[in-house]
This record gives sequence, structure tokens and C-alpha cells, in this order.
Amino acid sequence: MAVEINSPPTWLKALLECLRTPVRQDRFESIRDGLRQDASELLGLMLERGFLARFESESDTVAAFSARHRRPYSQSAFTSALDPPEGEALGPPDNLAGGLTDLLLARSSADRQASVAFDEQSLRTLLRHAYGPWSGFKTKDRRPAPAAGGLRSLQLFVHLAESTSLQTYKYCEDDDFLDGVSRQRATIADLCNDQATVRDARAQVTFVYDTRTNSPKYGARGLDFALLEAGHAAQNLTLAATALGIGSRCIGSLSHPKVCEACNLRTHQVPIYACALF
Ligand SMILES: Cc1cc2nc3c(=O)[nH]c(=O)nc-3n(C[C@H](O)[C@H](O)[C@H](O)COP(=O)(O)O)c2cc1C
Repeated sequence: MAVEINSPPTWLKALLECLRTPVRQDRFESIRDGLRQDASELLGLMLERGFLARFESESDTVAAFSARHRRPYSQSAFTSALDPPEGEALGPPDNLAGGLTDLLLARSSADRQASVAFDEQSLRTLLRHAYGPWSGFKTKDRRPAPAAGGLRSLQLFVHLAESTSLQTYKYCEDDDFLDGVSRQRATIADLCNDQATVRDARAQVTFVYDTRTNSPKYGARGLDFALLEAGHAAQNLTLAATALGIGSRCIGSLSHPKVCEACNLRTHQVPIYACALF
């Protein structure tokens, strides 16, 4: 169906003119400045389909826009004032409000105990900020970590190192409480293939993928999403630990049999990641 445009906007007239005649840099720039979001998309489409290909060799501006447009992460090169220099250092960033920059700079993997106390209140704070519910804070029904399709795929287990034993709890995050699971003659290092880096850890949070949560919807990709979600939650946990002065270390090398035993896991539960706390 042909669409008749009775009074074409200025940018369209200019664009049509531009298509009929050899492109001029200044003409093209004035079109760019007048473009709206939908018009930019139209232009992008034309570039993509090769309608403006011949101009690429004649105009640096068209060539630059075309190159940018074809990048999947940039769909709006023409619509915003953002025009980052390409191939150059971006320069110093801003310090983020709320102390996030300081926390990110302060986080590093620990291997010895911090001097601050590790008590019930710090545990509660860590779990809430990692994966727990926000009710009790300002916002209800919000979570600190995103989840694919909103299907929260993780279960968190907490191991507390005692002098000769390891006490394991399941964090029931919907109701925000800890359920005792096991007490064993074991150490956190035992859970982590005897790695020296965690010998001094006071606690560990283990992230377990519950395959029943998202695999009905996502199949085998459910595991990929759970791994990504564990990364989000672990980052929350390490930043919260940093804020409390508690050391942390993310752990990928886990002894599955030992973790499964400590957490009393069944076949639909797979340990995927952990964070040792010092
Ligand atoms: C996915 C992942 C798995 C890791 N696994 C282990 C591990 O099994 N043992 C360990 O001591 N550190 C582990 N780390 C911590 C890294 O060794 C550490 O982050 C890295 O050396 C960079 O140091 P930084 O955290 O101080 O920046 C892991 C980190 C990530 C992100």
C-alpha cells in the first residue's frame, strides 16, 4: 500500500533531496540534527539495506553513522547528543553517589580474617543484600538481584565454621530465615577442594541451582541463567561484605560431593558457586 505524505517534514524533504543528488556533508548533518527517533530508525534501516551505500564512500559522516548503526549495541547514534570519541580513552569517570564507586574500588578477594565481628546481624545484612526480600526496607516485593523471567533459580546455603565443625543452614529467602540443615566434622576448605585461600574463612554462602525453577521454561539454558544469577547475587554479597568491612572471595572450585552432603541436596539441586567470608 502506498503511503501519501501530504506535508512531509523538513527532514524527510531534505533526505529525499539528499537521495536524489550527490550528498553534501553539511546537508547530511542538518538532516541528522532534525531527526526524531523513528526517523533515525528509518535512516538506519536504509543504511542497513544498502540504500545509502553509495554515500558511504562520499561522506565521512554517513560512513561513521553507518559503521555505528551496524553495531548491535548502538541503535541511537543519531538521536542523542552522545557522541563518544572512538578509539580514544574515555577519560576519568564520575564518583558515584551512595558510595558505590568506593565499594567497587575497595572490594578485592580476601584470604584472611577481617578485624570486624561476624555476627548474626552481619549475616542477616549480607543475605538480604545478596538475594533476600526487600520488605522491611523501603520497598516491598523487590529483590536485589535480577532473575531471568523473574524465575528465581537459586537457593542459598550458609556454612558457619566452628572450632571443630561446620554448621550448615538453608536460607529460606522468601520468609527470610535460616533453617538448620547439618552439623559435620568438616571445614570450609573441605567444601572448596582444600584450597589454601579459604582456610581462614569464617563462613561461606553456597549458591545452589534448583533446576525445577526455570528448566520447565528454559530447558538446558536454565543452567546458564542460574550461573548468571549467581554472579549477580555474589556481586551483591561481596559489595555488602566490603561495606561491612568483612572480607570475601568468590569460589568456583567446589567439591560437589562434600557440598551436597553438607547441604543435604537432592538430584534437582546443583551447587554452582560460592562466596567465602572472612
Ligand atoms: C567465577 C570465579 C571463580 C573463582 N573461583 C575461585 C576459587 O575457586 N578459589 C579462589 O581462591 N578464588 C577464586 N576466585 C577469585 C579470583 O581468584 C579472584 O577474583 C581474582 O584473582 C581477582 O582478584 P580480586 O577478586 O581481588 O580482584 C574466583 C573468582 C571468580 C569470578
